[in-house]
Amino acid sequence: MQESVISIKNLSIAYSIREGWVKSVENVSIEFPKGKNTAVIGESGCGKSTIANSIIGILAYNSKISAESQIIFDGKNVLKASKEEQRNFRWKKASMVFQAAQNALNPTVKIGEQLADSMIDHGVSNKSEISKKIEELLNLVKLDATRVLNSYPHELSGGQRQRVIIAMSMVLDPELIILDEPTTALDMITQTYIFDILLDIHKKRNLSMILITHDLTAAVKLADKIVVMYGGKVMESGSTEEMFDNPQHPYTEGLLGAMPFIDGTVVKKKSIPGSPPDLVNRPKGCIFNSRCYLVEDRCKTEEPLLRDIGDRQIACHFRGE
Ligand SMILES: Nc1ncnc2c1ncn2[C@@H]1O[C@H](COP(=O)(O)OP(=O)(O)OP(=O)(O)O)[C@@H](O)[C@H]1O
Ligand code: SF4
Ligand SMILES: [Mg+2]
Repeated sequence: MQESVISIKNLSIAYSIREGWVKSVENVSIEFPKGKNTAVIGESGCGKSTIANSIIGILAYNSKISAESQIIFDGKNVLKASKEEQRNFRWKKASMVFQAAQNALNPTVKIGEQLADSMIDHGVSNKSEISKKIEELLNLVKLDATRVLNSYPHELSGGQRQRVIIAMSMVLDPELIILDEPTTALDMITQTYIFDILLDIHKKRNLSMILITHDLTAAVKLADKIVVMYGGKVMESGSTEEMFDNPQHPYTEGLLGAMPFIDGTVVKKKSIPGSPPDLVNRPKGCIFNSRCYLVEDRCKTEEPLLRDIGDRQIACHFRGE
């Protein structure tokens, strides 16, 4: 069996709001293979960022993680680790590029200084080590180090700023980088360029990456494994090739069918009717039942378990037999 860089087991996360608890992630288990890229895909609000934030330990103040939840790294549950161990894990072992992170750079501080500060904050004090590392990382994200180091964020394009953020996520040589919608708000050509750079970094450094994205084309291009989420649950997971060639879960079928792609001269495009489920009063049975074209009575009362079928996992009563 493939070794995992990180394993999530029985993870449940809810947020407190006036109307009750938003059960955003419900009993999710995912293995992220070591040295591979895993894409987590699914519609807006299905819990992707919540999972990423829980790994890195930055969930919102109104969140609650269930007692059974585990996030295992190096044989330890980071949710139960000491503050010191958690600090060591977060950023040194695993780092994150946030949704729309390019806007988070400090507009009044030059890029070189911001990159150096992110190393100094984590205890690196040797000046020549810092300079060497920064130059190496800027080259890795295909930026002209001499120019960029002395620039303020507003002097760079959105795509260049996002590449600075990607470089920043690597200053402590993490084993795992989580990228939460790393190309949101960038044009298509820049998005493609950044995904090419990420693929190049992955190959050169043998890094594990978790890519959270709506961009199915990017997921297919970058990821070895795809995890499909819906309503805070995993619907299906498997190798990118298998998932794309033979989607089994009706939601995956719809999601990949909604992906515009060119096959010779044919452009295929479908959509999934209906809207995402209420996460405060979660429906009984299968969370996808109100939108599923295969729905039967059983789906409205009995929740399908996520079953292992070879290297695949599927949560549907009628698929993956
Ligand atoms: N701090 C919060 N308080 C209350 N509800 C929240 C909070 N953060 C997230 N949620 C809710 O939890 C659910 C999952 O949110 P999350 O941000 O994880 O989704 P997502 O899959 O990342 O969506 P997107 O693709 O739009 O980024 C959503 O219903 C969202 O409204
Ligand atoms: S369990 Fe039923 S509702 Fe859910 S995906 Fe399968 S067929 Fe559709
Ligand atoms: Mg998100």
